[in-house]
Amino acid sequence: MKFAFIIDPIDRLDPGHDTSVALMEAAQALGHDVWVTQADGLGVEGGRAMGRLQPVTLTPVELGSDRWVAVPNWYTLGESAYLPLETMDAVFMRTDPPVTVPYLYTTYLLDYVDPQKTLVVNSPQGLRTANEKMYALQFTQAIPETIVSRDKAVIRATVDRWGKAVLKPLGGKAGEGILFLEAGDRNLNSMIEISTRQGQEPVMIQIYLPAAKDGDKRVILLNGEPIGAVNRIPTGNEFRGNMAVGGRVAAVEITDRDREICRQLASTLRRDGLIFVGIDIIGDYLTEVNVTSPTGIREIDRLNHVNLGQQVIEWVVSALREKRQ
Ligand SMILES: Nc1ncnc2c1ncn2[C@@H]1O[C@H](COP(=O)(O)OP(=O)(O)O)[C@@H](O)[C@H]1O
Ligand SMILES: [Mg+2]
Repeated sequence: MKFAFIIDPIDRLDPGHDTSVALMEAAQALGHDVWVTQADGLGVEGGRAMGRLQPVTLTPVELGSDRWVAVPNWYTLGESAYLPLETMDAVFMRTDPPVTVPYLYTTYLLDYVDPQKTLVVNSPQGLRTANEKMYALQFTQAIPETIVSRDKAVIRATVDRWGKAVLKPLGGKAGEGILFLEAGDRNLNSMIEISTRQGQEPVMIQIYLPAAKDGDKRVILLNGEPIGAVNRIPTGNEFRGNMAVGGRVAAVEITDRDREICRQLASTLRRDGLIFVGIDIIGDYLTEVNVTSPTGIREIDRLNHVNLGQQVIEWVVSALREKRQ
């Protein structure tokens, strides 16, 4: 089969860490043709989504002492062609957040991929529906106490009530803009003003979960089912566990509570075409649903001796076969 990946410029990917590369490698290893494109190479012509596609051949990473290691020239690109995306069997939308207006435009372009011919992972409609912070709000049994507001008085009153809270910009990722708030902090007003851009943008305020010091668990879901997990533990004076800010990764079990949270999400994720998702769980609570370009596969593969990329590609192949029968 033919698999296209919409990625950030390939020379900026980190083959030892990035899930997109793990998925591409898995597709290649299973005998499929792998193509890459970027959001800026997409368009619509004659009612069909087009992409400037380039075939790519990868030299797979190898296991080093504490991470996957790639050779310096780990990819070779072939000649590019501007083709209808429906010439591909599946298209993985893997552009990194933030979700900007151009990102949203890309999802509108992807609406012009014929679903009878090509599976888009994740669904462009789903990508528009699921703001990575706000999507979790509907799972009221799974999330900790959380509000969304741009109103300083509301935010202050909430922080005063809870004592400790975490502020999250609604479009953030990788720990960016995440603040620890404490009642009585002399910077509180100022932090709210900066984060809401003087009340122009709503932010999320969530009760501080002390369990965060033991880690922020990433659970990978494939069509609503948990297939793997990794813990990210804050290091030094940092309260955030994100790998991008130095979080230490460690093997972790998927607990009964984690499975229960996944069960609460499963049918909604399927309805929204959110096939490949990474949820964040702190203690017993769901804190985030990552749908744009979830990561974690490389770390899970290394720590648990599994191959999640292969599982994902096999699932996509069988979903396509079923649809075409
Ligand atoms: N409610 C919370 N209590 C304590 N720490 C939190 C809470 N929510 C998030 N964090 C910390 O902030 C980090 C980033 O939060 P998250 O909501 O996953 O946003 P993102 O990963 O998109 O930046 C997490 O890794 C975790 O360490
Ligand atoms: Mg997160």
